[in-house]
Amino acid sequence: MALLLLSVLVLLTQPPRSRGAEVTILPQKHLIDACTLVMCSPVENGLPGRDGRDGRDGPRGEKGDPGSPGAPGPRGMPGPAGPVGPKGDNGPAGEPGPKGDLGPRGEVGAPGMQGSAGTRGLPGIKGDKGAPGERGAPGSAGAAGPAGPLGPQGPPGARGPPGLKGDRGAPGERGAKGESGLPDIAALRRQVEALQGQVGRLQGAFLQCKKVELFPNGRGVGQKVFKSAGFEKTFQEAEQVCTQAGGQLPSPRSAAENEALQHLLEAENKGAAFLSMTDSQTEGRFTYPGGEPLVYSNWAPGEPNNDRGNENCVEIFTNGKWNDKSCGEKRLVICEF
Ligand code: GLC
Ligand code: CA
Repeated sequence: MALLLLSVLVLLTQPPRSRGAEVTILPQKHLIDACTLVMCSPVENGLPGRDGRDGRDGPRGEKGDPGSPGAPGPRGMPGPAGPVGPKGDNGPAGEPGPKGDLGPRGEVGAPGMQGSAGTRGLPGIKGDKGAPGERGAPGSAGAAGPAGPLGPQGPPGARGPPGLKGDRGAPGERGAKGESGLPDIAALRRQVEALQGQVGRLQGAFLQCKKVELFPNGRGVGQKVFKSAGFEKTFQEAEQVCTQAGGQLPSPRSAAENEALQHLLEAENKGAAFLSMTDSQTEGRFTYPGGEPLVYSNWAPGEPNNDRGNENCVEIFTNGKWNDKSCGEKRLVICEF
């Protein structure tokens, strides 16, 4: 097919062979017709024929080769907007903001408790030695030697002996005073005053504690305190109660102590309380828990009688008198601290 088209093109582009020849210029459409090519050979002789009638349509030609790709069409209209996508991740942290304004001033707090006294400070460093005094003034010149005997004018006399040694020069100026190794007196005075104040306050606080502690079942006498446990026990149990409390059973060593104990017993409204002493080691020889013999006693008349041979402990009555008693009895427990 392509070869056929090429042939038609060659024929059409050749010049006419004769001026006299009348060539019918057919529309290009007809020239490419296969029938026209056969009928219209060059005219040499004879008259031109009639116009041929239009021929019938020829058979459908073969399907042509696919054409070369055309130019891209115009850009289409933008499509409709898609659905909203998921939320993106948080962006990076921003720069810190500017510093805020100062807040309102707070209430002034209550003054704190006074601190405890500090420990005694170390002694001050010994002062440096003072600078040496200035050198003393030189001694005065010695006295002249005695004159030689008068004689004829002779040669000059010999030089006299040297004068006496001059007095010792005045002592040099005292060197600058070195620093004292003693602490500052004024600072010490302030420390002492502060300590005195603290001791006074502690004494007040201690007295208050003591009063509270003794009310209502305690009695203080000298350095001693008697305190009632409020219950009754045998001697052995009572001894244990007081030891566990850090004390011991009462050991009145004077009339004052015995009276304090008596008054406590009266206030507790119990008939009798055990004392610490026993004669368990040696019958008739009462001793304190440490083993020492009694330094004070206040036996009731006729006591100790070791009634029924079984009285090794001691009880004190509300009248302050003592009686030896069986240790297995139960008596009010009073402890001594
Ligand atoms: C009487 C005695 C006393 C004894 C006591 C025993 O009170 O006077 O000495 O210890 O009896 O219960
Ligand atoms: Ca007795």
